[in-house]
Amino acid sequence: MTRLRSLLSFLLILSILLVTLTNYASLNYYTNYETNDSNNNKSKIIPPLHNSAHNSAHNSAHNSAHNSALNPTLHSIPSSPTTVTYTITLTSCSSTTSHDSTLIGLIDGAYVLKKSILTHAPPSQSPTFVAYVHEDAEGTECHRSIENAGWECRVVPTPLDITLIKTPNLRNHISQNGCCGPSELIKLYAYTLPSTVAIILDVDSLILKPLDEVIERIKIMEEGAGMYTEDWGMVQPGRKAGAQGGFLILRPSISTFNRLVNIILNTPFNEPGKPGWNGTGVGPFWGAMTFQGLIPFYYQEVNEVESVVLNRCEYNNMRDNPYTKDNRECRGPVKGVKICQDCRETKVEDIYSTHFTLCQKPWGCHLNSKNHCKVLHDEWFYMRERLEVEVLGGEFEGKGMKGYCKKGGKDGYVRIGDDVMKAMHVKI
Ligand SMILES: *[C@@H]1O[C@H](CO)[C@@H](O)[C@H](O)[C@H]1NC(C)=O
Ligand SMILES: *[C@@H]1O[C@H](CO)[C@@H](O)[C@H](O)[C@H]1NC(C)=O
Ligand SMILES: *[C@@H]1O[C@H](CO)[C@@H](O)[C@H](O)[C@H]1NC(C)=O
Repeated sequence: MTRLRSLLSFLLILSILLVTLTNYASLNYYTNYETNDSNNNKSKIIPPLHNSAHNSAHNSAHNSAHNSALNPTLHSIPSSPTTVTYTITLTSCSSTTSHDSTLIGLIDGAYVLKKSILTHAPPSQSPTFVAYVHEDAEGTECHRSIENAGWECRVVPTPLDITLIKTPNLRNHISQNGCCGPSELIKLYAYTLPSTVAIILDVDSLILKPLDEVIERIKIMEEGAGMYTEDWGMVQPGRKAGAQGGFLILRPSISTFNRLVNIILNTPFNEPGKPGWNGTGVGPFWGAMTFQGLIPFYYQEVNEVESVVLNRCEYNNMRDNPYTKDNRECRGPVKGVKICQDCRETKVEDIYSTHFTLCQKPWGCHLNSKNHCKVLHDEWFYMRERLEVEVLGGEFEGKGMKGYCKKGGKDGYVRIGDDVMKAMHVKI
């Protein structure tokens, strides 16, 4: 039995390696995006790894004339093995009881997310797991639970004193902005990590395929570089989109960290007649004053460091509806576009990571959710079962949501058992 299992995991690793190698062979990292080092203009949006109707509109809107290839020797390739740190953040903990569904989701989410990362990360990447815990949440049950789930917790303050923000509009309103005001900015500490690459995720995410392609690509980009997905659901067509807050791949850099903090302290946001950050039109939208607005402002407008906007159907897929409410046009940088890629239709096999926002949380036991959400919930439950089978033994049955939900709704959810958690401390 044990031998059969280790043979199976060996075969799995082997097949992941094979798939990875095949991917490398068919990829062309360098011709697909542009830079203009001659005049030190880092240039604009860079095409996604795979083109789509929506994204090609994006490209033609942003780059036309110059398409010089990035010379891979421009930036030194860090010595292998690549260290990749995956980070999650805990900004607060309101849970007071262990039956609280947000606490249960946090705990089970942290286990399953980590398992999904380990399942798809080749050993050569030596993944490490860091959770930034805001000092306000220090010592809470949430903090302890994330630690128990195998995330190395680092207690940190908001990276700046908001009373020192120069411009009054930002200073007075940042506390109420987005999910959690300026405490969301603790995500930025990922830029201070000593690893080759850092990946910021939310705990309600799941990795579905190896991220090697983007990791290999960002490895040769300069320090401070970032890859993220845009959140078009938050803005009207023709506007500038925010970054989705639950996904950012970056090359750590202390100077980029300092620069980002400095931008918040010194740059106007939405002053009269000057919309968004510094009047560039990045914002206002949900969370624009913090992470969601800062990241695209820094990468697209300040434009000091290379960046890639990834295809949001493949990375950080949220099954968002790409059309405006009246279904008349696509949400995107160009008005009046009628046809666009629809992330609700992306096949599971084509999705690298998903983020349970619009589809609701798997631990909410949404038994009647639409099929495009259900297939992703099933992936989460698949990963959960795999973890349990690996830790406790037994047969994989493919229980799916039905196997872990006694009934619909969060009260029906069967949380990961203490036996699994205890055994897991040794194994994952
Ligand atoms: C990019 O650099 C080339 C020189 O290599 C120059 O001819 C071209 O004008 C530059 N493009 C922009 C937009 O500055
Ligand atoms: C950088 O390139 C963009 C086009 O992508 C252009 O609009 C902008 O003016 C350039 N900036 C500088 C300083 O050359
Ligand atoms: C904001 O705009 C001003 C004036 O246009 C410019 O000098 C400054 O560099 C901009 N700030 C950032 C962070 O880009």
